[in-house]
Order: sequence, then C-alpha cells, then structure tokens
Amino acid sequence: MDNDIQNILLTEEDIQSRIAELGQILTEDYAGKDPVVIGVMKGVVVFYADMIRQIKTPCEMEFMWISSYEGTDSTGNLIVRRDINADIAGRHVLILEDIYDTGNSLTFVRNHLLQKKPASLKICTLLDKPSRRKPGITLKADYVGFEVPNEFVVGYGLDYNEHYRNLPYIGILKPEVYAD
Ligand code: IMP
Ligand code: MG
Repeated sequence: MDNDIQNILLTEEDIQSRIAELGQILTEDYAGKDPVVIGVMKGVVVFYADMIRQIKTPCEMEFMWISSYEGTDSTGNLIVRRDINADIAGRHVLILEDIYDTGNSLTFVRNHLLQKKPASLKICTLLDKPSRRKPGITLKADYVGFEVPNEFVVGYGLDYNEHYRNLPYIGILKPEVYAD
C-alpha cells in the first residue's frame, strides 16, 4: 500500500494535532447544546472516530449514507441510501465530512437535513479542496481541518476504488496506480 503513495501530504501527527485544535473550538461552540454529530459514510469513519473524542461536551452520534445513482463518481445524481435515525427537529446539528470537493455531496446532505428543521446546521470537513468547487456552489464549511491542493488523495478514510482507507496518513497516489 505505502509503495503506491507518491508523497505524504499530512502525517498522522499533523492530523491529530489539527483535530485537537478543532476539538477545542467545537467543544466551546457546542457547550450546553447537546449537538447531533452526523457522519457521512464511509470516507468519514476514521476522522469521525478521532474527532468525536476531542469534542468534550455531551453529544449524539449519527450516520448517514449517500451514493450516486450510477457509477461511483460524484455526478450530482445523489440519493440517501441510509438516513439518520434521530429526530433532529429543533436540535443543533454538526455534519462531519472527509473532504469537500466539488460540493455536490455536502450540498445534497445539507439540503436533506435542513428539511428536518434542525435548530442549527454546521459543517466540519477534514479536508477542503476549494479549487475543485463546482461553479454556483458558494456554501462554505464552518470548520476546516486542512486546505489541500487539486490532487487526488487517499488514506485516513479516503479511498481509491475502496482501497487505501486504512492508511494512517493522507497521501497522493502515484499516477501509475490509476493507469493500471
Ligand atoms: P464532492 O465532490 O464534494 O461531492 O465529494 C464527494 C466525495 O468524493 C467525498 O465525500 C469523497 O468521498 C470523494 N472524494 C473527493 N475528492 C477525493 C479525493 O481526493 N480522494 C478520495 N475521495 C475523494
Ligand atoms: Mg469516496
């Protein structure tokens, strides 16, 4: 696996220290609000597990699963494969995401959850790739771990063809891996 990586963009230490910083901010911002923290599967799983333990105020955990109608690309034709269980009406909701890329997924998830009438809805993404944003999407993430360049990254939950999610760091794949 490591042999397929061209270079490491974010080490385990980089990621953990940023998560600790975000944790302090989120702990303050959500103190006394008992937020529902919603993870979008499955890329977020690794980040979610670390992030939630740095939010040191009571909160609830929820997950949802979305996918494209066809293929695996984020084409814009998204559906909810598995919805959250909790009733979030009147609740403070924080969405956790692995990466904010074109913006299709987060826009879709946000609109879906807004229909459930939460008291507030904010977004925390580990990675933000602003250069990839689809024209017309002006939504900004409220909390961002790292801004990353326009490169396809894997590891720490992020996949290429469902692999590399278990790498502990975030890296850029060697171009020849795509060519195979
Ligand atoms: P969107 O383009 O913002 O809708 O992002 C959709 C999804 O594509 C993300 O939640 C990721 O699962 C995946 N994705 C986007 N960019 C990357 C990347 O660089 N590596 C791995 N997955 C990515
Ligand atoms: Mg993915």
